[in-house]
Amino acid sequence: MNNRNEHYSSEFPNVKVKIHTISESLRRHLYIFKTVTGVFSFRKIDLGTKILIEHMVIPGEPSVLLDLGCGYGPIGVVLSYESPESLVFLIDINKHAIWCTKENIKINLRNNRNIRIFSGNYFEPIKAKNLKFNGIFMNPPLRQGRKEFLTLLHIIPNFLESNGSFQFVIKKKMGAPFVLNYLKKEFPSKKVDIICKRSGYWVFRCFQEE
Ligand SMILES: C[S@@+](CC[C@H](N)C(=O)[O-])C[C@H]1O[C@@H](n2cnc3c(N)ncnc32)[C@H](O)[C@@H]1O
Repeated sequence: MNNRNEHYSSEFPNVKVKIHTISESLRRHLYIFKTVTGVFSFRKIDLGTKILIEHMVIPGEPSVLLDLGCGYGPIGVVLSYESPESLVFLIDINKHAIWCTKENIKINLRNNRNIRIFSGNYFEPIKAKNLKFNGIFMNPPLRQGRKEFLTLLHIIPNFLESNGSFQFVIKKKMGAPFVLNYLKKEFPSKKVDIICKRSGYWVFRCFQEE
């Protein structure tokens, strides 16, 4: 992918679309995911995504959860399967990813009444709804640099309930130690935990109150 229009973060990636199928066991349940060329990690679940899914802390009670930058939907699908009483939102800018997410919800979840899917730029599609989440989950797009993600870190707390947390995964080589220092410096009164370090990936949980 050498052109901006072919990148997975494009609204409509300019690639020849071919459907792929991924089967993956996550949190001891087997999922089948439909993906298409041009969507992030369309051949195989990304290792960072898998590590986040295996270690993310899912609230025990019915909650309002968000998979931000959902791609073909693995994080949000697992959140909904594990917490069927929760209302799960999924958002992505890539329209092909949103098509896959809709398919993957039909394939993997029997009761999909508690799911809301939006296509658009981060919180823009839901900003009129005044929503606050008990958990926001993300494998952030960092291929084009960290700046956008660092800006997002300042927006996220506005969308969290007081007990809510932001959980995300970053590869050590892609700047996880930098992000940890940045969070500590920019949000000195907020909690920041690394809930797992595995295979070069760090899973963060931050902004939750003590
Ligand atoms: C690293 S991928 C993770 C995808 C998926 N969550 C997964 O783990 O397989 C990041 C996702 O963020 C999406 N994205 C990039 N910029 C975005 C934006 N401005 N608003 C919403 N989604 C965006 C990309 O299209 C991509 O699907």
